[in-house]
Amino acid sequence: MKILITGATGRVGSHLVRQLAEHHHIAATGRTVHPRTQGRVTWHRADLADPQLWTALLDDVDAAFLFPAFGHTHHFIDAATEVGLQKLVLLSSAAVNDTQNSLIKTVHAEVEAQVEASGIPTVRVRPTVFMANDLAWLPAIRSGAPVPLAYPDASMPAVAEQDIAAVAATCLTQHVDRDTYELTGPQSLTQLERLAVLTKHTTGAPAFWTDITDNAERDGLPDMPGPPGEYLLRNLARSSHTPVPPTEDVHEVLGRAAIDYRVWATGAAA
Ligand SMILES: NC(=O)c1ccc[n+]([C@@H]2O[C@H](COP(=O)([O-])OP(=O)(O)OC[C@H]3O[C@@H](n4cnc5c(N)ncnc54)[C@H](OP(=O)(O)O)[C@@H]3O)[C@@H](O)[C@H]2O)c1
Repeated sequence: MKILITGATGRVGSHLVRQLAEHHHIAATGRTVHPRTQGRVTWHRADLADPQLWTALLDDVDAAFLFPAFGHTHHFIDAATEVGLQKLVLLSSAAVNDTQNSLIKTVHAEVEAQVEASGIPTVRVRPTVFMANDLAWLPAIRSGAPVPLAYPDASMPAVAEQDIAAVAATCLTQHVDRDTYELTGPQSLTQLERLAVLTKHTTGAPAFWTDITDNAERDGLPDMPGPPGEYLLRNLARSSHTPVPPTEDVHEVLGRAAIDYRVWATGAAA
C-alpha cells in the first residue's frame, strides 16, 4: 500500500512512519521536513494550511493519516474528497467526550465533524493523555531538581505514543470493526506513581517533587502554556477526585495489552 502521513515528525507520526515503513510505501509530510527519499519513505514539505499541495500528494495513496492542525484541515479534507480517498485515520482526542466545554474539545470536535461531513471512510483515534507528556519531567529529574507537579494525586491511564501509532497503523492497513477507538494505557496511575517510575528508571533515585497546584491554578502549567495546558489542568483537577478508568480499545485493535508505563519509562529514560 501507499500511505500518506501528516504530522510525520510528531510524537505519534514519527512512530507511525517507522512502523508502517516496514511493509508499505510512505509519503511523510510536515512543514519543516527536508524533502528526500529514505528506503520506502518519501518526505515532502507540506503545510496543511496550503491549499495548493494536497490534491497532488493524495492522488495515488490508498490511505492517509490526518494530524488535526487546528483551523487548517479543510484543504486536506477537500483534496481527499476530490481524489476519492478510500481510508482516512484521524488523530483526535478523548477531550471530545468531555461533559465540560473547552477549546481543545471544540477544535477536535470540529475536525471530527469536517471529516464526517466529507463522507470519506474514516476511523477516529481518540487518545487520552500521552505518556510522552511526562518527558517534560526529565530535565528536572536528571539535574536533581524537584519536579513541579500540579495535582500530584491525579490518576489517569496515560497511553504510550507507540500504541497510538500502532492502532493508527492497523486502522490504515486492515479492516477494523469500529469507526472510533478510545485509547488509554493499561491502568490509571497517579502523577506521583508515574514520576516514581520514571525517576527510578532515569537516575535510580526516589521521586523528588514540589506541589505547584496553587501556582498552576493562578498562572497555568509551566511546561504547557495556552489552551492545551488549561485543558490538562482541568483534567488533573477532575481526576484527582475521580480516577479516569482505562479502556480495552488498544487490546481490541492490536490483540495485545497496551504498553505498561514501566515499559514505556525504560525506553524514555534511555
Ligand atoms: N499530548 C496529549 O496528552 C494529547 C492527548 C490527546 C490528544 N492529543 C492531540 O494530539 C495532537 C498532538 O500529537 P503529537 O504529540 O504527535 O504532535 P506533535 O509532536 O506536536 O507533532 C505535530 C506534528 O504535526 C506537524 N504539523 C503541525 N502543524 C502542521 C501544519 N499546519 N501543517 C502540516 N503539519 C503540521 C508537525 O510538523 P512540522 O512542525 O514540521 O510541521 C509535527 O510533525 C494534538 O492534536 C493534541 O490535541 C494530545
